[in-house]
Amino acid sequence: MKKFFLVWMMFLGVNAFAQRDANMGIIPAPVSVKKFKGEFKLNSETIILTDSPNHRAVKYFSDYLRKSGMTNSVTDMSFLDEKHRKVKNVITLSVNHKGEIPLEGYELNVDDGKVTIVGRNAGLFYGVQTLIQLMQFNKNGFTIPCTSVKDHPRFGYRGMHLDVARHFFDVEYVKRYIDVMAYYKLNHFHWHLTDDQGWRIEIKKYPKLTEKGSKRAQTKIGSQSKGDPELYDNTPYEGFYTQEQIKEIVAYAEARFVTVVPEIEMPGHSMAAIAAYPELSCDPSKPYKVGEKWGEYKDVYCPTEETFTMLNNILTEVMDLFPGKYIHIGGDEVPKDAWKASVFCKQLISDRNLKDEEGIQSYFISRMEKYINSNRHSIIGWDEILEGGLAPNATVMSWRGETGGIKAAQMGHDVIMTPGSGGMYFDHVQAKNPQEPLAIGGNAPLSKTYAYNPIPAELAKDQQKYILGVQANLWTEYIATPAKADYMLLPRMLALAEVAWTPLANKNFDNFSTERLPHHLALLDARGYNYRVPVAIGASDTTLTGANFTFELQPSVEGAKVHYTIDGYAPRETDLHVTGPVKVTVPAKKEIEFKTIVITLSGKRSNVTTMKLVNK
Ligand code: ACM
Repeated sequence: MKKFFLVWMMFLGVNAFAQRDANMGIIPAPVSVKKFKGEFKLNSETIILTDSPNHRAVKYFSDYLRKSGMTNSVTDMSFLDEKHRKVKNVITLSVNHKGEIPLEGYELNVDDGKVTIVGRNAGLFYGVQTLIQLMQFNKNGFTIPCTSVKDHPRFGYRGMHLDVARHFFDVEYVKRYIDVMAYYKLNHFHWHLTDDQGWRIEIKKYPKLTEKGSKRAQTKIGSQSKGDPELYDNTPYEGFYTQEQIKEIVAYAEARFVTVVPEIEMPGHSMAAIAAYPELSCDPSKPYKVGEKWGEYKDVYCPTEETFTMLNNILTEVMDLFPGKYIHIGGDEVPKDAWKASVFCKQLISDRNLKDEEGIQSYFISRMEKYINSNRHSIIGWDEILEGGLAPNATVMSWRGETGGIKAAQMGHDVIMTPGSGGMYFDHVQAKNPQEPLAIGGNAPLSKTYAYNPIPAELAKDQQKYILGVQANLWTEYIATPAKADYMLLPRMLALAEVAWTPLANKNFDNFSTERLPHHLALLDARGYNYRVPVAIGASDTTLTGANFTFELQPSVEGAKVHYTIDGYAPRETDLHVTGPVKVTVPAKKEIEFKTIVITLSGKRSNVTTMKLVNK
């Protein structure tokens, strides 16, 4: 076991939160949990029995134990007679569900003699994730509280997106991202591989896409949306994945029941490709360069036969690399300027009887969809693919609110909900507070993400089935480092997991954020992730009137301390910390600022909160 991991696991030996919580600390909250007295002791003598030794869940669990310093043997049950199957101190991992378990579901039973997980395909993997969440480290191995969990997901599509075009994230980071998705039972990784600012996937037939298109000369500094001055860092930026690396990531994801959905943006957000191959544009005589700032670019792919041939060839290589059902072809934010200025497009509109340039958008998407469908894949597009008529079989990702998703579902199209207005844009700030780092804007606090319900009230019962699921997006214009990507992702991704998995009736933000999350944040530390530290439980930025105050504050992360001041200075680790109720007395006609900060064992810090206490 790695030393760092060991130290953290020892600290996490007693999971006080799970003891009292009805969900036993599990995120996302399961369909049903029953707690019993007693515990199972997982030690080096524990035998892992299975009817499917090659199942990815079995391999994952035995790898997990090995990394934790345990060397338990895995035994194929088919080699054992009935008598030997009944031994004590066994963990049984089985796919023999007899059809009673819903898709991706599992049943986990723990008593003091044995642990049994029966899962339906991916369900066995999710049962293992739940088991791992219940395991508490001690010096002989782990203890697991006795329980009975029955569980399955609310939605089949549970997605998390990562934009690697605006900023590039290496293979190691992408794997860690997939890891944390899998811990929380998310199952689609939407990989935004191309955009104006960089082409990040090797295409053998068109080497300039990465030779030129993966490099930009410099990057905008500061906020574009707030209208900061035009300032650039004068530093070249580059990065792409080789096809070998892509295969490695796809296999890594598959081992964790995560399907990778590649996105190749078209017809807009295509400056990087146009800079590499200007013949893709409507005016190849113009100079083009890979984007250096954010927002929309007016130059987009021209709908010529040459463009379609090239895109088909690109997608042929892409489809060979990604075995999943879906190819995402973007379709969002397509300015029509270049098409309006093009003689070719005028002729195309007339020849094809298209209404206008909006018609070119749906013509473009339909042509690509036909090609992709003929190669046994289906398309997903952002909700702009509804413009000018929806291509048949297309799945719509509703990002500009829910309107597009509602319309598509009413037309009988599959939909994935990912509205920025519903807290699904993780590039938005997590608090309207100058202590937050630079972000694109918006406001998506944890509570807002948690509250999102992907089934809009407008949909009739028979239309709701078209909502395949939900996704959150991490656009990276303002996210240049893994630490910041983690910060914007976590803990909101855990709220997303509960939106995507947990039955509505079992959702409860108080229970999630105060009973379960603090332990998970400490676990994320143990696993080497960064995250945004929520402010202390019970603290906020507010004004209160009175003379005598008593504050009951709890750390938002297990093991962290809540430090505070009453002298107006920002609290730090050298200040007093909360050990019980804190009493503050305000003299008559005076004000005192009671400030708090959470500082974790690893040194992560929350924002400072200020409670202004006024004695009138
Ligand atoms: C998007 O955020 N442009 C899909």
